[in-house]
Amino acid sequence: MGFKIAVVGATGNVGREMLTVLAERAFPADEVVALASRRSQGVEVSYGDKTIKCRALEHYDFSDVDVCLMSAGGAVSKEWSPKIAAAGAVVIDNSSAWRYDSDVPLIVPEVNADAVAGFRKRGIIANPNCSTAQLVVALKPLHDRAKITRVVVATYQSVSGAGKDAMDELDRQTKAIYSLQEIEAKKFPKRIAFNVIPQIDLFMEDGSTKEEWKMVAEIKKILDPKIKLIATCVRVPVFIGHSEAVTIEFENPITADEARAVLHNAPGCIVIDRREPGGYATPHEAAGEDATYISRIREDATVENGLAMWVVSDNLRKGAALNAVQIAECLVNRKLIQAKKKAA
Ligand SMILES: NC(=O)c1ccc[n+]([C@@H]2O[C@H](COP(=O)([O-])OP(=O)(O)OC[C@H]3O[C@@H](n4cnc5c(N)ncnc54)[C@H](OP(=O)(O)O)[C@@H]3O)[C@@H](O)[C@H]2O)c1
Repeated sequence: MGFKIAVVGATGNVGREMLTVLAERAFPADEVVALASRRSQGVEVSYGDKTIKCRALEHYDFSDVDVCLMSAGGAVSKEWSPKIAAAGAVVIDNSSAWRYDSDVPLIVPEVNADAVAGFRKRGIIANPNCSTAQLVVALKPLHDRAKITRVVVATYQSVSGAGKDAMDELDRQTKAIYSLQEIEAKKFPKRIAFNVIPQIDLFMEDGSTKEEWKMVAEIKKILDPKIKLIATCVRVPVFIGHSEAVTIEFENPITADEARAVLHNAPGCIVIDRREPGGYATPHEAAGEDATYISRIREDATVENGLAMWVVSDNLRKGAALNAVQIAECLVNRKLIQAKKKAA
């Protein structure tokens, strides 16, 4: 007997991808239910080669659900995750609502899978921000090898990271430009078509944005509180796939060749690093894939022990849906949960 899984936010970018990933990886589910807002009651979504009709979250009884994958935003998660956990389901949440709560583990399975056992305090496990997830997958093996002290990162984040309305906005603006129509910017603070925007989320008092602050806080919680990080997060007119230009300082020496070899053998990483035109990964190739791609690995001669590299991944998969399903797999493989129906 398998598990009963609920996907909340099933009509959204991440929710749809969660259903795809659950089916692709043959997650041991006997039943999968799709939930969204009242607006989407009856809307059909795909789960493998089946279609399921969405139900409204507000009327749903979670008492026989084993795992709830949440991707309906912070406000919905703040209200619903504790109620769903109280009904006995383990909540794996994609929003930022619980990530910084010391009683909630923040997990990237390739990096800190052992911390997953801490879910029992609140019944909630948090998934990191999309730009953090791919970065820690690439940093962890290098940290183990030469101890990272400082990271400087500039992100090139796709519009799908801001939800389905943001993808529609890029699509509409691009068409409007070609047909000489007026351009409307609703979802982003400036036009995103044929442009880049150096602001993701709100500004903080120190001049950084909330997205940049999240990367700092999350890297410390997942990887090592001693690592210093500064980020500049930029939205670019790409539909799917986040890219990151990363420079890293280490306590111990490490050459580009050593880093390439370490990353070559690291879980979740694929190195594509030929020093020729096109010998690197771009978001176009990463979209729809599970791996974190690492390219342009080179030594940084401006510091004692430094490297620079380019990191690309599908933000809807490793940055959200895939990571959440991998967390659910950890719970199952480590026998941390039991199917309620089987237990009864
Ligand atoms: N996109 C990424 O790369 C990414 C990465 C990491 C984390 N996340 C996080 O994942 C969450 C979802 O992101 P997304 O990109 O999938 O957003 P999205 O495309 O805008 O989808 C939002 C989903 O939430 C549902 N929803 C909204 N209000 C609801 C309510 N009151 N009750 C039940 N369901 C409700 C929507 O249902 P309706 O269709 O019925 O409105 C829709 O299914 C966000 O918290 C986001 O920060 C996203």
